[in-house]
Amino acid sequence: MIDKVKETVAFILEEINIKPRFGVILGTGLGALVNDIDISHTLNYTDIPNFPLSTVEGHSGKLIFGKLEGREVVAMQGRFHYYEGYSMQEVTFPVRVMKLLGIERLFISNAAGGLNPDFQLSDLMVIDDHINLMPENPLVGENWDDFGPRFPDMSEPYDQDMIARAMEIAKQEDIPTHQGVYVGVTGPNLETKAEYKYLRVIGADAVGMSTIPENIVARHMELPCFAISVITDLCTPGNIEKVTVEKVIAAAMKAEPGMTRLLKALIADA
Ligand code: HPA
Repeated sequence: MIDKVKETVAFILEEINIKPRFGVILGTGLGALVNDIDISHTLNYTDIPNFPLSTVEGHSGKLIFGKLEGREVVAMQGRFHYYEGYSMQEVTFPVRVMKLLGIERLFISNAAGGLNPDFQLSDLMVIDDHINLMPENPLVGENWDDFGPRFPDMSEPYDQDMIARAMEIAKQEDIPTHQGVYVGVTGPNLETKAEYKYLRVIGADAVGMSTIPENIVARHMELPCFAISVITDLCTPGNIEKVTVEKVIAAAMKAEPGMTRLLKALIADA
């Protein structure tokens, strides 16, 4: 695995001539941040050695290199979800690659269901902790000591300074933003009413199908991580409606300008 990561990094370094300082993973309906990047290189996932092969025809993602707020970034347009059939190693492979490319911080966005009754549709939630209910873990198997320890600490999975700064920016800019716990499930089906109730009882504020594997691998390598959810559906008693991809994308797109402003301000500060 280490050799594969190194091979991929060597390939990318031959293609690009910038050294990204920040990595960004964009969630469902949240890809517009890419429009603000002054792009210097775009690599299709299909052209990058060892990158997982897309399971969905015509939906290959891109790795985008350039400047955002004057800072060198690498952004993943399109991520790999466990529910698509990728192994946890495949889901998290790009995070290893971005770390070896030299990123100092990782920024993640996702779409999530709101379990906290105070949340409204299209609000943002800065993730300050998580509960992992996914059945597999990307660190299972031989530990690669070059990357990180066998038993990585998870007492601060999300960087507290970046969380505090994000909450400050949200307040200044009047972007409706909460702070809370994200619970990660496999999907791809959404939850039953009884499951939403259970997820709230165990302490979660939002539920989604991504982010946690990427965060675990980032923390394994001691890469500081910031993650933010857009609340795309309400999962509280009395508010539960049939969820469709269209509704999720519409709610995400409504929140996207605020989220983009917040991420750009954080990156400008970093
Ligand atoms: N549950 C799980 N994942 C999600 C949801 C949800 O309600 N909304 C968006 N992603």
